[in-house]
Amino acid sequence: MLVAANPTVPIYAPQEGAFFRGGAPKEFLVRDTSLPAHMRYFDGKDPNALRSGTPWPLANFQIVTRTTEILPEFFVLTTRSDKAGTREMNELSLAIRTPKGLAVVVGCSHPGVENILVAAAQIDKQLYTTIGGFHLVQTPREEIERVAGMLHDTLKLQRVAPGHCTSEPGFAAFMRKFGDRFDQAGLGAILQLPR
Ligand SMILES: [Fe+2]
Repeated sequence: MLVAANPTVPIYAPQEGAFFRGGAPKEFLVRDTSLPAHMRYFDGKDPNALRSGTPWPLANFQIVTRTTEILPEFFVLTTRSDKAGTREMNELSLAIRTPKGLAVVVGCSHPGVENILVAAAQIDKQLYTTIGGFHLVQTPREEIERVAGMLHDTLKLQRVAPGHCTSEPGFAAFMRKFGDRFDQAGLGAILQLPR
């Protein structure tokens, strides 16, 4: 729908596997000539390349492999998942420069919200807030406390706005740490950034 309304709008996406890299490596195709032809990939013939398709062939995808300023004071950054099950998945986050430091919008924080913020701090070490899912579901409480402590004490965020996959123990831990500097980033929440 977005692409239909605005076909040229840039869509910033993380680098991922076969879908964006133009296909799987040829080594995926290991042959066994004992199979009948109808069971062999590409009928046993050698394809030029192992391509995969896209559901959005006309979309203007921009694959982000390093921190990039996409508009004045708006940056996209990429980090790699550290969570079991998505270990090699790259994720994008958005950092917006405000007069009080960066507001970092995270998606699902599989790389670890603290790791995303360490990467964002390369742009500007003054961090104002972070908004989004902190991915602390099924995280032991001590680890949640460590993450909350790191955001508060080490990275010195002025506010936090967790939502989505932060988890109930996660919300509670961040509320204890940040007190009245805690914003709830629920569906439809509007957060005012310094300007
Ligand atoms: Fe998540």
